Amino acid sequence: MIYFQWYEGMSVGVPLIDSDHKALIAIINELHALTEAERGGETLKYVIRELVRYTQFHFHREEKVLQACGYPNLAEHMQAHVGFIQYINDVRNSHIRNPDKLFREDILDYLKDWLKRHILIDDMAYRPFIENDPRANVAALQGGPGLDEVRESVRD
Ligand code: FEO
Repeated sequence: MIYFQWYEGMSVGVPLIDSDHKALIAIINELHALTEAERGGETLKYVIRELVRYTQFHFHREEKVLQACGYPNLAEHMQAHVGFIQYINDVRNSHIRNPDKLFREDILDYLKDWLKRHILIDDMAYRPFIENDPRANVAALQGGPGLDEVRESVRD
């Protein structure tokens, strides 16, 4: 059984944003697989780093889309993003300090629950503002730094 599954009811109406959400869910599923297999070390370090990188990339892109479409609750939405970035950076720093530890199940469940709730409630709230706005797809393609730039900013 898949730990965390994207389904159509999670669509926010812009394919690139949905693709980002699927990618984040895939990373959380990788963390789950490593936890189940009791694997840590370098592989876990790499996947945690990818979680931080891709989350930053996605939040940048999404914020650009919301800005382009004039979403009125952008500031509040960005605050939620900042809080999650702080949390996963803390998780990453904790793993760097204790690289021999396995990933904790309660953290895994928090990541899953936070992202699911954020997509279904916070992200879904902007759907009516972006789904039929052509500026959304343009901003999604152009918005934010490229993934390579984010990779550079989140180093070992
Ligand atoms: Fe898709 Fe607001 O994160």
